Amino acid sequence: MAKVKTTFFCQNCGSQYAKWQGQCTSCKSWNTIAEEVIQKPQKSDWKFSSSSTKRVSKPLKVNEIDNSQEARLNMKDAEFNRVLGGGMVQGSLTLLGGEPGIGKSTLLLQIALQLQYKTLYVSGEESQRQIKMRAERINPNGNNCYILTETKTQHIFKQIEDLDPDLVIIDSIQTLHSDYIESSAGSISQIKECTTELIKFAKETSTPVLLIGHITKDGHIAGPKILEHMVDTVLQFEGDRNHVFRILRANKNRFGSTNELGIYEMQGSGLREVSNPSEILISEKDGELSGNAVAATLEGLRPLMIEVQALVSTAVYGTPQRSATGFNAKRLNMLLAVLEKRAGFRLGAKDVFLNITGGITVDDPAIDLAVVASILSSNEDVALPSEYCFAAEVGLSGEIRPVQRVAQRILEAEKLGFSTIFVSKYNKISLEDTSIKIQLISKIEDLVGYLV
Ligand code: TYD
Ligand code: MG
Repeated sequence: MAKVKTTFFCQNCGSQYAKWQGQCTSCKSWNTIAEEVIQKPQKSDWKFSSSSTKRVSKPLKVNEIDNSQEARLNMKDAEFNRVLGGGMVQGSLTLLGGEPGIGKSTLLLQIALQLQYKTLYVSGEESQRQIKMRAERINPNGNNCYILTETKTQHIFKQIEDLDPDLVIIDSIQTLHSDYIESSAGSISQIKECTTELIKFAKETSTPVLLIGHITKDGHIAGPKILEHMVDTVLQFEGDRNHVFRILRANKNRFGSTNELGIYEMQGSGLREVSNPSEILISEKDGELSGNAVAATLEGLRPLMIEVQALVSTAVYGTPQRSATGFNAKRLNMLLAVLEKRAGFRLGAKDVFLNITGGITVDDPAIDLAVVASILSSNEDVALPSEYCFAAEVGLSGEIRPVQRVAQRILEAEKLGFSTIFVSKYNKISLEDTSIKIQLISKIEDLVGYLV
């Protein structure tokens, strides 16, 4: 009998070792290395037409390469399409990660139900009846979606051969197992092997595959890091489970930008696309409150009005606290120092808390001015007029710096009914006929003059 081949994997980061050891040398975690039985597959189970295997690739000039193959499937979901960069590329593998219960299965089932393409939804987690119950809540008319409950890749490929679908969805990669590897489903070697088989299938038949992946408690996709290298696109579905809003973003995308963002709202009948997110991110309130300011930011190419809240209060302890949610804490400290040095505000003995509403994290430097305005407003306890908004970066010498795509931000602010937008004097603005007042400022002192 052939000797059983085993090897050791760190269950946390996926590093491979020849023998057991207590600590993983690459991720430094203890007691995570476990033995797994591996048996190198003699052949892969995805049998392909012989022509493609025999083909040897030749170097070609860039303009000679035929890219008509890269036709994209329209997913009939504007948010999903945008995050992917304009639809799913044929033969690509996309991994969707997210916390349990966030709505991954709901999202992909919903997409499968609204497509006209023949879709195979393979579930290793739920029974066909459970999925049917969910499908009836989401879209009872979807009829081009086939449901298969199966976990063995060899059986899945057999069904795929018979059905010949245009899109395959796997829920989830951690439940799959392949006959060629003896370790249990969800182990590092199984995940690697099953993904390799799926990649081979996707590339050779030009069928796009969507995989659902579980995440670990620290937010990474469970399984080896190499999984994320193997697939073409890694999407992350996030949001607070107790809130109705869900955010879809691309962490890696071989066919588009990773800046795009999709926003959904979880409803009784599935996920609804939120095409105008600015409206939900700005809270409705009766009176004007101090410490609130609205920033005209861009997420990818999309303008997004975001509300910034600051609370400035006298420090209770000797060392004042500075805390920021959704905004870089170092940048907050820098802006506080600028306010202190250039505008003469004594914030050294104050606690400062900053929060970006809606659970969003913002990297766009154009939010700086709104952060400064909200801090000033809270410090002076004077509410800013709710029809003001801000879009500029603040420099170390207190200068107000221009930001990219300012016209787009101004138009979004105008559309949402703001009366005044504060931008840098150094922005080149070629807008005519706007009903919104564009207030140009060059120094932080100018802002102080307008606000307090
Ligand atoms: P699910 O897709 O099962 O999450 P995941 O696959 O990421 O683990 O989503 C589950 C949650 O979504 C569940 O708690 C109930 C909620 N939900 C709705 O609110 N409305 C719906 O129409 C559906 C189908 C689910
Ligand atoms: Mg699920």
